[in-house]
Amino acid sequence: MTRSLLAAVVLLALGAGAMAQTPYRPGPHNIVLPADWQARFIRTITVDSAARRIIRTIYVNPEAFAAARPAQPLPDGTFLIMADQRARLDADGTPLRDSVGRFIPEPGWIAIAAQQRNRGWGEGYPPTLRNGEWEYARFNGDGSRNNGPVEACFTCHLVTRAQQDFSFGFWDFVQARR
Ligand code: HEC
Repeated sequence: MTRSLLAAVVLLALGAGAMAQTPYRPGPHNIVLPADWQARFIRTITVDSAARRIIRTIYVNPEAFAAARPAQPLPDGTFLIMADQRARLDADGTPLRDSVGRFIPEPGWIAIAAQQRNRGWGEGYPPTLRNGEWEYARFNGDGSRNNGPVEACFTCHLVTRAQQDFSFGFWDFVQARR
């Protein structure tokens, strides 16, 4: 190996090491929506909301789907996605139903909310906000980041679901699973 190539390799290795040690900084930027989530994530529950005229589905990464156990905190790396679709409406604006009574989705997403937990996350949030090791993030229907505020995500999930590892639908899904 030439001396300059060796130097480049050493610099690259140092650079990678420095990146791995980038200190955790709280915020929604920690959550990156995987480009392949629609193909890879597993659908857990789907709820038709008549009031909002939407269809809401909760997805989870396959690793957490396999590892989650009843009455246990959700696994490190659990990545929950709540994706909303517009319901197809009749002329009066009432959601149409399919043969088994479910709403019929219009194509595409209207909004995507995400929460993810990882070891070491959550540091720096005050106790009035901190949700264990969870972060929250919002995305637009096309998957681009939505920079709207996320404080309410923390407060609502903290107040209502601290005993369920801050999860709603997926927690219940895991408890009910046999
Ligand atoms: C006022 C209370 C409230 C607020 C604010 C809120 N959520 Fe939730 N969240 C819920 C409820 C209730 C559910 C269960 C699904 C439902 O009923 O619509 C839920 C479900 C979820 C889920 C699906 C995971 C699961 O296990 O159910 C994600 C992801 C999520 N919320 C992220 C967010 C994000 C991101 C924000 C902020 C942009 C947010 N939430 C703000 C109450 C809230």
